[in-house]
Amino acid sequence: MSEALELGVNIDHIANIRQARFTAYPDLLAAVTQVEAAGAHAITMHLREDRRHVQDADIYAVRQHMTTRLNFEMAATPEMVKIALDVQPEDVCVVPEKREELTTEGGLDVIGQFQRIQTVTQQLGQAGIQVSLFVEPDIEHIRRVVELGAPVVELHTGTYANKRGAEQQRELERIQQAAAFAHEQGIKVNAGHGLDYENTPVIAAIPQMRELNIGHAMVARAVFVGMHAATREMLALMRSARA
Ligand code: PXP
Repeated sequence: MSEALELGVNIDHIANIRQARFTAYPDLLAAVTQVEAAGAHAITMHLREDRRHVQDADIYAVRQHMTTRLNFEMAATPEMVKIALDVQPEDVCVVPEKREELTTEGGLDVIGQFQRIQTVTQQLGQAGIQVSLFVEPDIEHIRRVVELGAPVVELHTGTYANKRGAEQQRELERIQQAAAFAHEQGIKVNAGHGLDYENTPVIAAIPQMRELNIGHAMVARAVFVGMHAATREMLALMRSARA
């Protein structure tokens, strides 16, 4: 049996529902309680530059309330570094961000933006935060993550999630090769984006994989069964994929 695989639950979409009407509900803290009680290992939140879902106060409130790890997703900007240093999450996942996108599209440009990402990685690393860089499942990108000194890589699974048939199989192979390469280089391998109850098992079965960060599909499932059951179901299928 391979090493343990952890689940980080991204709660951005619960904030999305709340911000659609600027109500006080659904309560993010109640969601965190359910997700943690169901056995999730981390809470993931993305504070976007435009604050379209998670708000600054949410990060602080969740930080106070939670009992697991906080995985704070952020763009490589001075504003976000300042917030991260203040909040002190256990983990930061640095992601690319464009105002006009629906959700994070593609991985970080670790080649073109090397200097900027290096500065952020060092600032956070020096504060004792474990930095993960969100990149395409591509060997050249992973080499750069290693050069940047980040201890963790999060492989972007969005293309895999959107493809079907032979194309999806090819994308899965890219992720498998990227995970093996990153592991050989001595960095922790996470993955996320677009993972759901159908396409997660083969990703969970990749032996080098240590953590999956999943949001949209779980919040969608929770509409019918609640966050506790949605989390239990995802954890159960991750466990059976590893058995
Ligand atoms: N990982 C990263 C780096 C992300 O940006 C996102 C989306 O915010 C996720 C995981 C979760 O993606 P999804 O909501 O599609 O499960």
